Amino acid sequence: MIELAPSILSADFARLGEQVRAASEGGGSVVHVDIMDGHFVPNLTIGPPVVKALRKVTKLPLDCHLMIENPDEFIPAFAEAGADWISVHQEACRHLNRTLHLIKSSNCLAGAVINPATPVEMLAEVLDLVDYVLVMSVNPGFGGQKFIPGTLHKVRRLAEIRSQRGLHYRIEVDGGIALDTVGEVVRAGGEILVAGNAVFGHGDPTKNAEGLLKAATEAAMLKV
Ligand code: DX5
Ligand code: ZN
Repeated sequence: MIELAPSILSADFARLGEQVRAASEGGGSVVHVDIMDGHFVPNLTIGPPVVKALRKVTKLPLDCHLMIENPDEFIPAFAEAGADWISVHQEACRHLNRTLHLIKSSNCLAGAVINPATPVEMLAEVLDLVDYVLVMSVNPGFGGQKFIPGTLHKVRRLAEIRSQRGLHYRIEVDGGIALDTVGEVVRAGGEILVAGNAVFGHGDPTKNAEGLLKAATEAAMLKV
């Protein structure tokens, strides 16, 4: 099933509730929340208080993408604040297995994320543990960057491994997804499509979300 996950990184933070509502009216069904610490990535965003505030304005799952060092220190706080899904970067976790277990024991779905420079093989030993894998199609840190097409072979590979090994994780793709790229992402096997700039960067978030979802669904129908 194809889902659109609007990323609030490009939303108007002074009107977050309204913006989330607008994107969900256009079919956004997961709220993607980018958490950055200024160390793992060269940017700073938000922490648990904003997740707690979002929890009050939407019933949609809150998908917290942690781009932070030492995520174990903060996972309980994000879970407590109302996160439903928590993903951590393979590159940031010395003990990825332990961290994924910590997410699950906090009653959240657990995701593992790989940067454009990280091969799928780095996740081989945890694919039976994760609820979803997030493939970054830009280098994390900022919204509005250009999609890196060379990351799509990893989406295909993850779909292949899943069927070969009889696993059940979902495949999320994040970065540079817009009307001109969403089709190839879906055809490669992307199922949860994160979009920030394409939803909130210009115009009406409801219409933008509708348009993206329509393009994604059409591409999914053409995929055998
Ligand atoms: C990038 C973030 C993305 C970002 C995507 O570090 O993880 O979620 O918001 O934004 P767009 O869709 O603008 O590339
Ligand atoms: Zn993200």
